[in-house]
Amino acid sequence: MRYHLPLTHPLLQTVDISVSFGGLQILDEVSIGIPEGSVTGLIGPNGAGKTTVFNVMTGFVKPDSGKVKYEGNRLRHVKTHHLTKMGISRTLQGVGLFPSLTARENVMLGASGHVRSGIVADALAMPWTDAEQRHIRDKAEAAMAELGVLSEADRLPGEMPYPVQKRVALARALVSDPKVLLLDEPAGGIGAADMRELGRLIRSWVPERTVLLVEHHMELVMEVCDLIWVLDAGKVIAAGSPEEVRNDPAVLAAYLGEDDHEDDHEDDHETVH
Ligand SMILES: Nc1ncnc2c1ncn2[C@@H]1O[C@H](COP(=O)(O)OP(=O)(O)OP(=O)(O)O)[C@@H](O)[C@H]1O
Ligand SMILES: [Mg+2]
Repeated sequence: MRYHLPLTHPLLQTVDISVSFGGLQILDEVSIGIPEGSVTGLIGPNGAGKTTVFNVMTGFVKPDSGKVKYEGNRLRHVKTHHLTKMGISRTLQGVGLFPSLTARENVMLGASGHVRSGIVADALAMPWTDAEQRHIRDKAEAAMAELGVLSEADRLPGEMPYPVQKRVALARALVSDPKVLLLDEPAGGIGAADMRELGRLIRSWVPERTVLLVEHHMELVMEVCDLIWVLDAGKVIAAGSPEEVRNDPAVLAAYLGEDDHEDDHEDDHETVH
């Protein structure tokens, strides 16, 4: 599907978001929109501000100015469990699984919306009744089956190869049956075959779900995205279809001189900044 800019009625959008950390401008009036039912890409060199955009959208980082809108309404004071209720789910750059919990337990936490608090005790103290617990367990197992990791349900993350951990993390994002999925480098550290399968999986979610994909692997981005936004040094420098973006001189210039960092920072970002 082709989307024409500016977009009318994006499902999720940032409007003139600016963020600075310690006096450094990280995002400079970033406005991006995600059309409902699309796979939208957010790309840019290392440190461009992609993860920070996710953190603003999900309420982890409060912008200095600008707003986030979802279904036309401004989002304010968002808490992670609100996000789950609103149908928004994200994966963390890296993996971000709790190391002391089994794969099944990690995925079950995705249903609670408390995953991102980072405090296992909080998450496990969710006041689930036995019936709720069974229901969530069934949903977790269905999500793990969809990702082909049901056989890993009783293993700890540390006992699984990295690509399997990534699938478990994706299952955790899916278990709440989200309307919107924000994926932060889902292909980081996985091989070509897994990447092709990931591409097919992402396409299978639309148009029922809407996906925002941050990814360094250009072949995956170009293959699965309907629309791509390009960030460089905290500013949007280009947007359009994969062909438009691929041939945009500003994009080519931004990537010139970028080392191939694709797989050397997978374990750097286990937590949200
Ligand atoms: N909490 C923070 N405090 C200070 N600086 C930060 C913080 N979080 C991010 N930054 C800086 O903001 C800039 C953008 O970071 P961000 O993680 O959003 O980039 P990115 O595009 O996701 O990069 P990558 O491709 O490496 O994941 C970087 O220079 C980073 O060092
Ligand atoms: Mg990042």
